[in-house]
Amino acid sequence: MSKIILTGDRPTGRLHVGHYVGSLKERVALQNSGEFDKIFIMVADAQALTDNAEHPEKVKNNILQVAMDYLACGIDPAKSTIFIQSAIPQLPELTVYYMNLVTVARVQRNPTVKAEIKMREFEASIPVGFFCYPISQAADITAFRATTVPAGEDQAPMIEQCREIVTKFNSIYGETLVLPEIVLPSNSACLRLPGIDGKAKMSKSLGNCIYLSEDPEQIKTKVMSMFTDPNHLRVQDPGKVEGNPVFLYLDAFSTPEYFAEFLPEYAGMDELKAHYQRGGLGDVKVKKFLNNVIQAELAPIRERRKYWEGRLPEVLEILKEGTRVAEAAAASTMHDVRHAMQIDYFESLLA
Ligand code: TRP
Repeated sequence: MSKIILTGDRPTGRLHVGHYVGSLKERVALQNSGEFDKIFIMVADAQALTDNAEHPEKVKNNILQVAMDYLACGIDPAKSTIFIQSAIPQLPELTVYYMNLVTVARVQRNPTVKAEIKMREFEASIPVGFFCYPISQAADITAFRATTVPAGEDQAPMIEQCREIVTKFNSIYGETLVLPEIVLPSNSACLRLPGIDGKAKMSKSLGNCIYLSEDPEQIKTKVMSMFTDPNHLRVQDPGKVEGNPVFLYLDAFSTPEYFAEFLPEYAGMDELKAHYQRGGLGDVKVKKFLNNVIQAELAPIRERRKYWEGRLPEVLEILKEGTRVAEAAAASTMHDVRHAMQIDYFESLLA
């Protein structure tokens, strides 16, 4: 069986370092591993509209931004198909049929949907389209016969729900759809990067993100203002590393090479943490190290982004060509689905 990747992001803002360590970095590594036959990366604008119906301009303004973030991180259009969700009519078509295989109660139990309903304060006014987005996400994944979905931990319940739909579909209509698996970042520190204020999640509305497109001075200001252990007041005080955002970021970003380059007096994270815990290591020194590491990591991304910012018509052309390729793939799956569901009447009624 071929190995196929499908994943994507909602275009509601520029991508930040949480997206980068949580999923983008892994996608690029998988892309370059040469192990996959096809790779589809989707700008999930239709999903973004499920809770932005009144703000189409917000979604529109982020299509090229997200595409440029992808290209900047190293998604290579020669290896990966980048496309736009709303331009693939087979996705809503599949969604309609999958809706018959899922109960309202099951969607209500989806922990990601639950959390998002709470966060958005929808209460009794949940848009039906928003409520159904886990089902449309199953359509996204299965339309491309994806075996592998590199995504953040928050997407695990979505993949689980997709797997249930696939199993149910195949048991009713015969083996047709491919059962996907999620691939999480291998470094567990990358799973949940908190905001620079220490809040659970980086989010644009909380203003606690470091964006991939940010300039070096802005990044430095943000890193130096990061929340740390509030009880670590003087350098000589013992400090806490658990839940300390500066150390969580270092766990996600630092490598032995970065220690050798920027902080050679420490062998690695264990030594640095031990010093902080026993006292005598100041926040400023740790933050300076983190700033150097993040700057080194983001500099090549920023450079590639600049390159694409000067070539917007090319970016649009990449999306256009990717969407054409993606639609052909989805149409082939749709053909099989129609046949399995016995709704390919014009081909089958008299056959
Ligand atoms: N839900 C994802 C997000 O919040 C975007 C998305 C839509 C997606 N369809 C997908 C991710 C299919 C993985 C697979 O950004």
